[in-house]
Amino acid sequence: MEVIIKPNPEEVSREAAGLFRRQLRRKPDSVLGLATGSTPVELYRKLVAMVRCGEVSFAHATCFNLDEYAGLPADHPRSYACFMREHLFSHIRVAQWFIPDGLAKDVATHCEEYEYRIRDCGGIDLQLLGIGSDGHIGFNEPGSSLASRTRIKTLTARTVADNARFFDSAEAVPRHVITMGVGTIMEARHCLVLATGESKAAAVAAMVEGPVTASVPASALQMHPVCTLVVDEAAAKLLQRTEYYRWVYDNKPSWQRP
Ligand code: GLP
Repeated sequence: MEVIIKPNPEEVSREAAGLFRRQLRRKPDSVLGLATGSTPVELYRKLVAMVRCGEVSFAHATCFNLDEYAGLPADHPRSYACFMREHLFSHIRVAQWFIPDGLAKDVATHCEEYEYRIRDCGGIDLQLLGIGSDGHIGFNEPGSSLASRTRIKTLTARTVADNARFFDSAEAVPRHVITMGVGTIMEARHCLVLATGESKAAAVAAMVEGPVTASVPASALQMHPVCTLVVDEAAAKLLQRTEYYRWVYDNKPSWQRP
């Protein structure tokens, strides 16, 4: 895993935007996996700006979102579908975009179809991820099988509390979600994880330097062949090998830079 430590959240987003630009320039019809939460908001703002000035285009790209709240319609203001429209898709042209349907009647079949669609599009080239304070990726809470596929999950009380800030109260946060599994995420060709702020420091340390365990689903990424983690100083605070991560980055060959 490559660990890139940036001074602040702005620089984290800039680095991530550079990786998206490189991906889309190399392969305009890339299949991109996208994430929600507060962490990628600035990245999406930068991508919209890049599209507007012609630096990059999503016009031939296909996007798949990681997850959605079960029970929320796509036009609900707190749905992830709405989040993605607000921050990205109402501002840019994209060839295709998919997100799990929070109102799917037959959830199991819907999840199977989601997986099928990802495969049918050729698999995900670049998967963007945030990390929950309990080490979840997508909505794969601690204890999720590291081989899991897209399915329904029940949120932990901690994630409900973390995400309550987007709702009127914790009671309003749905308890169930549909999420790509850890196994689904692991099949992406390149995983890009962003984490900022001190509240993520413990999860980041467990993900990078702890044991690979279903108790920290993000730790599965230690087994991923091409994973980039971009963190700010605050989120890197509990990492042990920061000197080496900085050394690797400073000595990175120019052809490997975005
Ligand atoms: C939610 C999302 C995750 C995201 C996490 C962290 O649980 N399902 O994909 O990584 O929140 O969100 P934030 O970036 O707001 O800290």
